[in-house]
Amino acid sequence: MGKDVIIACDFDSAQKTFAFLDKFTEEKPFVKIGMELYYAEGPSIVKEIKRRGHKIFLDLKLHDIPNTVKKSMAVLSRLDVDMTNLHAAGTVDMMRAALEGLTREDGTRPLLIAVTQLTSTSEERMQNELLINASINDTIIKYAENAKTAGLDGVVCSPLEAGMVKEACGVDFMTVTPGVRFADGEVGDQIRITTPEKTKEIGSDYIVVGRPITQSENPVEAFRRCVKEFVGE
Ligand code: C5P
Repeated sequence: MGKDVIIACDFDSAQKTFAFLDKFTEEKPFVKIGMELYYAEGPSIVKEIKRRGHKIFLDLKLHDIPNTVKKSMAVLSRLDVDMTNLHAAGTVDMMRAALEGLTREDGTRPLLIAVTQLTSTSEERMQNELLINASINDTIIKYAENAKTAGLDGVVCSPLEAGMVKEACGVDFMTVTPGVRFADGEVGDQIRITTPEKTKEIGSDYIVVGRPITQSENPVEAFRRCVKEFVGE
């Protein structure tokens, strides 16, 4: 499994997205399209970014009854994205249905990963509001194991959790980790963070980096620094 840096294209229009991507004249970074951009522009933004030769992680975090998720995944699969995701909280049944929907007639499909607990959820809120009587780490491990049981490829988690997920689910179970910051950079609203270099050490397969690249004065240089620190090229 190749390690890679995924840029979170958190823009609210196609125009801003292309103004950003046009800066990359030599490389074609793997990009993440999230809810903001997808809801603003619809499937056409996915098709256009794909046409330009980028790999795409479509981050729409599906969570509904199994039949609805299955049918929605079948539609997303036709967009020919490389990776997409859902909430593990939807249960093993929902995740199995998602995989079925995602698998094309020729047997190919995008990678499918699960969100365990959002990094914005604290243990206290999980216990008091969601009435989950376990530690947040046990919940993350259990959700990751459920995702593996359902046949998914991996999970989205904090870089600090990647090691324990690998320990529980095996080294081949993918970890995709946001919350990455340069040692000398702005932290913003992220809490459980670490640097690209440290993330590499812990064992993440992909890092998702947004503002440290998109808000940088020189995004191409920031992207190259991430690749150098994380992939080591
Ligand atoms: O700008 P920044 O590097 O913080 O962007 C991180 C990206 O990863 C954002 O698109 C954010 O929505 C996403 N993400 C996250 N934490 C999660 C899941 C997704 O930061 N648990």
